Amino acid sequence: MTTGRDEPAPPARGRRSVLFVCLGNICRSPLAQGIFEHLLEERGITGDFTVASCGIGHWHIGSPPDPRTVAVADQHGIRLRSRARQIDAAGDPARYELILGMDSRNVASLIRAGYPADRVGLFLGYLAADDPAAPREVPDPYDGDRDGFVRVHGLVRAGAEALLDEMLRTP
Ligand code: 4NP
Repeated sequence: MTTGRDEPAPPARGRRSVLFVCLGNICRSPLAQGIFEHLLEERGITGDFTVASCGIGHWHIGSPPDPRTVAVADQHGIRLRSRARQIDAAGDPARYELILGMDSRNVASLIRAGYPADRVGLFLGYLAADDPAAPREVPDPYDGDRDGFVRVHGLVRAGAEALLDEMLRTP
């Protein structure tokens, strides 16, 4: 530790928070949570963040992520620890500064459920900030094949990196 008298004190850092949201909370948003947590671990800043995911629907409450999502995550060394839960418009806004839907239907559902519009957005919006041609939505892979899950992984990885970079740029 340096104690030079001329050095400014480090800025006070509040805990940052983000909630990832998709339809079922077993494919896309658990992967976003797991990848984001992995990036935090890599950078040694896990303790600075609260990260979670949830789903618009109630169908999978209590379930682990879909085995196809787990398989793709495994291949990239990402462990998924979440259990599905449904959105909670009464509690979540007080806990999370950012509430990010995987597609525009998720975002519309969040607004309809009463989440504050100024903290709800599209997860890939942070990617689009750097590249206007970047995809804006993470497509729902549930009824598709394995390729869809591989594509989701690529999009979510890029989106998570862009989001974390932006959150670290803006205290
Ligand atoms: P997710 O995918 O929203 O990425 O978790 C889905 C999972 C389940 C269903 C739909 C989408 N479902 O209809 O049960």
